[in-house]
Amino acid sequence: MTDCQGVAEGASTPMELYERLGAQGEKVRSLKSAKAEKAEVDAAVQLLLMLKMDYKRMTGQDYKAGCPPSDNVGAPNNGPAADGAGEEDTVDPWNVSTTNANGVDYDKLIVRFGSSKIDKELVDRIERVCGQKPHRFLRRGVFFSHRDMHQVLDAYEKHKSFYLYTGRGPSSEAMHVGHLIPFIFTKWLQDMFDIPLVIQLTDDEKYLWKDLTVEECHRFAIENAKDIIACGFDLNKTFIFSDLDYMGASPEFYRNVVKIQKHVTFNQVKGIFGFTDSDCIGKISFPAIQAAPSFSNSFPHIFGSRKDIQCLIPCAIDQDPYFRMTRDVAPRIGFPKPALLHSTFFPALQGAQTKMSASDANSSIFLTDAPKQIKNKINKHAFSGGKDTVEEHRKYGGNADVDVSFMYLTFFLEDDEQLEKIRQDYTSGALLTGELKKILIETLQPMIAQHQERRKQVTDEIVKQFMTPRPLNFKL
Ligand code: TYM
Repeated sequence: MTDCQGVAEGASTPMELYERLGAQGEKVRSLKSAKAEKAEVDAAVQLLLMLKMDYKRMTGQDYKAGCPPSDNVGAPNNGPAADGAGEEDTVDPWNVSTTNANGVDYDKLIVRFGSSKIDKELVDRIERVCGQKPHRFLRRGVFFSHRDMHQVLDAYEKHKSFYLYTGRGPSSEAMHVGHLIPFIFTKWLQDMFDIPLVIQLTDDEKYLWKDLTVEECHRFAIENAKDIIACGFDLNKTFIFSDLDYMGASPEFYRNVVKIQKHVTFNQVKGIFGFTDSDCIGKISFPAIQAAPSFSNSFPHIFGSRKDIQCLIPCAIDQDPYFRMTRDVAPRIGFPKPALLHSTFFPALQGAQTKMSASDANSSIFLTDAPKQIKNKINKHAFSGGKDTVEEHRKYGGNADVDVSFMYLTFFLEDDEQLEKIRQDYTSGALLTGELKKILIETLQPMIAQHQERRKQVTDEIVKQFMTPRPLNFKL
């Protein structure tokens, strides 16, 4: 029943597995402190998590460093690991990991980052202001945290509008399903509030961080723009730009970049982003480039010289460090602070301990995957909260809180009642893991096929139109 494949071949006793876990934990720590390539760190973390799951399956106990397995090895258990207790989750633009099978503790993250929870009152208020049922991402807490959203709504109610800003770091040709989350939600916000949107493609960032050429990053930016456009954005209200193109074309944008650069010290970015003395200077100054689109006068073709138009940024919470810095610097250079809406992470197939990440093909469902690939990936890799045998599952039921297929359905199945029924049936044991996976496969296959169909319609000419600096059609 548990479909996540074991990795502990070669470890025949709990003690051997315990020792492998110790060595792997050490490896992860040393890679992180040596600031190794993200893909290498992610792969090591993934292996560590899989070993932990194998350990739990083999011993019935959670792995704890310094506590070798006791003789009392109990029954296998797929329940949530408790070994995250006391440890801090890692959430930054490059790494997302936790030891807890339920995923990152988002309530703790709100406290740590100093943002505010999107509570029922705010969801109800958004519903009142736009006069529509809130998006399922709001109803289900996928977008869970915000900064200054009440202020944005206060102003909007007084007929003072705002603009949206989001982005993508084009590190490869194919985007994954997790990347869709902020774009789907941004499209909904654009439709609800009828406002302009700017989308930054940080091809410069990916050149600085990855082993890629400038030309490759720029090409990926154009390819990714096609997937973004396929989400349905309104050409009359959306400007998409590559940093490599727009930085040189817009003196106003570059002026804002240097203003930001002058007001943030090396010490501050070291504190926020963990840069070290051996990071190249491009990385150290890059946060100013991600900050600049938060200020309306970076886009004179859209907003003229107005610098007072409020910006709202929907993104997953991994991007928050950039905008903490932006909000800190904004009043010092005479701009309003951008507001934010933060989403949770769409988990990796192997479990909610890490986010879905393009650097690990087996952790991800790509927007280019064929129906058969989607089916195989889910059947083979999606971590199951089910029990080990059908008999046990029928008797004790599954754990929807750690089940990746159920988590994916919470992102994409529109019908609240159907979702709740699936949760109840799975928890009671009436619905088996294979059946749950089938529902997910049948939800994702048409969704991705339709995306691919829409993407095919996006010609080079359409991309060019979206990426040409021009006035947009809106009322402020
Ligand atoms: P990037 O390309 O890593 O991610 C693009 C957007 O997708 C979000 N995201 C996810 N959301 C849910 N689940 C996941 N597994 C997942 N993985 C990624 C990211 O939070 C992001 O919103 N530096 C940025 C590009 C950028 C940007 C911005 C993003 C420039 N300006 C403004 C947001 C807002 C980057 O590399 O994103």
